[in-house]
Amino acid sequence: MNLSREEQEMLDGKFGAGVQKAMELLVAVGECYDAERMVPVASVHLVSSNLNAGKGGALFIKDMAEKGSGVVIPATTNPSSIEPWSWKEMGFTEETRREQISISGDLKKMGCFICDTCTPYLIGHVPRFGEHVAWGESSAVIYANSVLGARTNREGGATGLAAAITGRVPECGNHLDKNRCGTLKIAVNANIKGDTDYSTLGYFAGRIAEDRVPIFAGIPPSVTADELKYLGAGLATSGSVSLFHVISVTPEASTEEVATGSKRIRSSDTFEFGPRELEEAEESLSKAGPEEADLVILGCPHYSISQIKNCAQLLSERKVKNNKEIWILVSHAIKQYAMDIGLAQIIESTGARLASNTCPNPMPRGFFRKRGFRTVATESAKMAYYVRMTQDVSCFLGSMDRIIDAVTSKA
Ligand code: F3S
Repeated sequence: MNLSREEQEMLDGKFGAGVQKAMELLVAVGECYDAERMVPVASVHLVSSNLNAGKGGALFIKDMAEKGSGVVIPATTNPSSIEPWSWKEMGFTEETRREQISISGDLKKMGCFICDTCTPYLIGHVPRFGEHVAWGESSAVIYANSVLGARTNREGGATGLAAAITGRVPECGNHLDKNRCGTLKIAVNANIKGDTDYSTLGYFAGRIAEDRVPIFAGIPPSVTADELKYLGAGLATSGSVSLFHVISVTPEASTEEVATGSKRIRSSDTFEFGPRELEEAEESLSKAGPEEADLVILGCPHYSISQIKNCAQLLSERKVKNNKEIWILVSHAIKQYAMDIGLAQIIESTGARLASNTCPNPMPRGFFRKRGFRTVATESAKMAYYVRMTQDVSCFLGSMDRIIDAVTSKA
């Protein structure tokens, strides 16, 4: 790779052992992907739960902190393995808590913002159009690339931290213009609305796209940022998609020609998403009825204040039925906002819980079974996919209003 003088000095150890190790890692990755050079990045979003990091990841982070490394650009963190405020009531163990606190403490020491959310863009971490960043967490990466028009690959925990310490990543993948053009098309003919439909569309399209860049035609300009958030999360679940375009909606897709870089998409690469595909995709993830659910999980990715408002309206003057729980996943900053304007009180008076800074994905395997949960209901295709895989529970996938109606009764 061609390194600048400063990058070469980082590699030679002039800025300390931590920076040197970080640059060695980035150069090795760059060589794997035939990157010609490094590109400066403006920010990092780090996957940092103790379960995702594992013992090796935790040691790497500790080693970097002990070497005196600090982050040189803003760096936020993804959900942790515990709910820091209600971990005992929610059934987390002291061991999980201790491990998570250790990792978060090391990252804080290096200058990271421990916000523990997969929607950092809802709390002020918003890259500008065309800006190079180094983000981890598939749903955040795809949102940054597609909806904000920033440029990032899917960084792992180690490369993300190395980027935060050096302010660089190898220039490859989504950082290059040539890799950002749409190569297959999804023609949406179903009447889709709401987070669940969009997340199901994403799940359907991700299976076809795998690691390619899909473009969507037929999505109305009235689609909301939250619906695009759910579309992206679904795409990044069934495929390793990290960028999509919606014609006339997302910033690199003013027309189909712009989205494809003037290349024609072959008819064999065009797929229809009609009412039948919507129904089949939803059924492939939904194997139980909503009334069977003993645990409801909403907010995957973490909810915005608009979604919380919608949820509070549906829950108002209702009570969660006996032996059922509702967890609504949010960042703590958004929870604080919901508390300030009275929405959190409405939600929690029904028996539902606003669980901040965590997510079931980095929770220990089997945690739900141990807590006695057998069936989860969710409005997110991503959550439906992961809880079935990691928590050995059956699942209902459907809209928030259908779920709330089934698991609550009039107060
Ligand atoms: Fe976020 Fe966890 Fe879903 S990280 S996108 S709430 S699986």
